[in-house]
Amino acid sequence: MMEIWQSKPFQLTCKVPGDKSISHRSIMLGALAEGVTEVEGFLPGKDCLGTLQCFEQMGVEIERLSPTSVRIHGRGIHGLKEPVAPLDVGNSGTTIRLMLGILAGAPFFSTVIGDDSISRRPMDRVVQPLRKMGARIEGRENGRYTPLAVKGGRLQGITYHSPVASAQVKSCLLLAGLSAEGVTTVAEPSLSRDHTERMLPAFGAALTAKDHVVSIEGGQSLRGTKVRVPGDISSAAFLLAAALMVPGSQVTVEDVGLNPTRTGILDAFKQMGAMVEVEETGSWCNEPVGRVTVRTGELHGVTIGGEMIPRLIDEIPVLAVVATQAKGTTVIKDAKELKVKESNRIATTVNELNKLGANIKETEDGMVIEGPVTLHGGTTTSHGDHRIGMSMAVAGLGAKETVKVLDVESIDVSFPGFFRYIQKMQVSQI
Ligand code: S3P
Repeated sequence: MMEIWQSKPFQLTCKVPGDKSISHRSIMLGALAEGVTEVEGFLPGKDCLGTLQCFEQMGVEIERLSPTSVRIHGRGIHGLKEPVAPLDVGNSGTTIRLMLGILAGAPFFSTVIGDDSISRRPMDRVVQPLRKMGARIEGRENGRYTPLAVKGGRLQGITYHSPVASAQVKSCLLLAGLSAEGVTTVAEPSLSRDHTERMLPAFGAALTAKDHVVSIEGGQSLRGTKVRVPGDISSAAFLLAAALMVPGSQVTVEDVGLNPTRTGILDAFKQMGAMVEVEETGSWCNEPVGRVTVRTGELHGVTIGGEMIPRLIDEIPVLAVVATQAKGTTVIKDAKELKVKESNRIATTVNELNKLGANIKETEDGMVIEGPVTLHGGTTTSHGDHRIGMSMAVAGLGAKETVKVLDVESIDVSFPGFFRYIQKMQVSQI
C-alpha cells in the first residue's frame, strides 16, 4: 500500500528506466542472433526479466552484467532448445504474444502459462494467424486463452490483414516470418509501435515497411549487435502528467525515447494547453531519443480517437487523470482495446477515479471526463495493473486529501522505483 498526499509545486529533472517494449525485443532478437548482443539500459522490471528467464529456459546464456546491462549469447534462428518446464510469462502480454511467433517455428514442444490477468487476455489474435502459417497451437477455448501448448514446426509465409492495430500481433508474425518459407506480410488498420521494424535491421535483417504494411522474407539470419535502450516514454508519461496535476510545476525527462508511434501523449498534452518542449538529441539503435519538458498551462478538454489511439494506448489511464483538471469535456473514443489490457482499463480507470470524486463515464469504446474537479482523498486499488496503480498515485499528487493505493507491487512490472520519483516530487519543491 502507498499513501500519496497533495504536492506543492515542484521541479524535477530526471531519467526513467529503459523502454519495456524495446527491452523485450532486445532479449528476443539477441537470443535468435548469431554471436553476442550487449544491451545497455535494459529495463529490470518483472515483465522483461520474465522474457529473459523464458529464453534462458530455452538454452540461451544471458549474463547480467549489472541490473541494467545484459550480454546475450545468441543461438541463431534455429538454435533454441526445448524447454523442459512451462514458460511462465507472468503478467506480460508482450512476452507471450511475441514469443509465440518464435515458438511456432521452433522444432520442439513447449507450453506457455501466465498469471490471472494473462489467463483472461485474448491470444487468438496471434494463434489464428499463426495457424494460417501452419503452426500447431492448442489452448483453452480453442487456443483463445492460456495455458497454451505449441508443437513448433515448418511455417509458411502469409499475408495477414490484422483487424486491430497491435504491435504485439504484428511483431509476433514478423518473428514467425523469420523462420517461415517465403514472405510474411502484415497490414494493420493504423500504425502501431514499430520497434520490431526498427530493431530487426540493426540485427542485419531486411524488411520493407510502408503505409501500415510490413513484409519480411524468411530464411534470413540475425547478427548480434549492441543495443542501447532509451528511457520509456510510457513511464515518463506519469511524471510529465504529475507536473500537470500540480499547477506551477515542471518536469524534464532526459534520454527518453521519442519514437513517433509512441509520442501521442505529448501531442495530447499540447492539445490540452500544456507547455511541452521536445528536443531530439540522438538516435539509439534506430530509435529517436531526446529531452522532454512539461509545464502546466490552462488545460482544456479534448477529443482523442482514431489513429492517435495506438500512439498513446498505454497512457490513456493517466491522460484521464489529467483530464479531470481540464476545463470542459474530454472524450476518449475508438479505444476498445483498453478492455483487454492488464485490466479492463476503461472500467478500472473510471471506477478508481470516480472514488476520488472525478466525473467520468464509461462508454462502449472509451470514456468521457468532465472537468475541472477538485479530487478528494480515498482508497484506490491498482487491480494488479501497473499503469492503474501509477495513475492513482499521480491523481493523489493533486488531490486535497491523502490517497491510498493498494496492490502497488504490480508497478514493478514496468517501473521499478516509481515511488522514489513521487517522493522526490514531494520534497523537491520550488
Ligand atoms: C506493446 C504493444 C502494445 C502495448 C503494450 C506493449 C509491445 O500492445 O499496449 O504495453 O511491446 O508491442 P498491443 O500491441 O496489443 O496494442
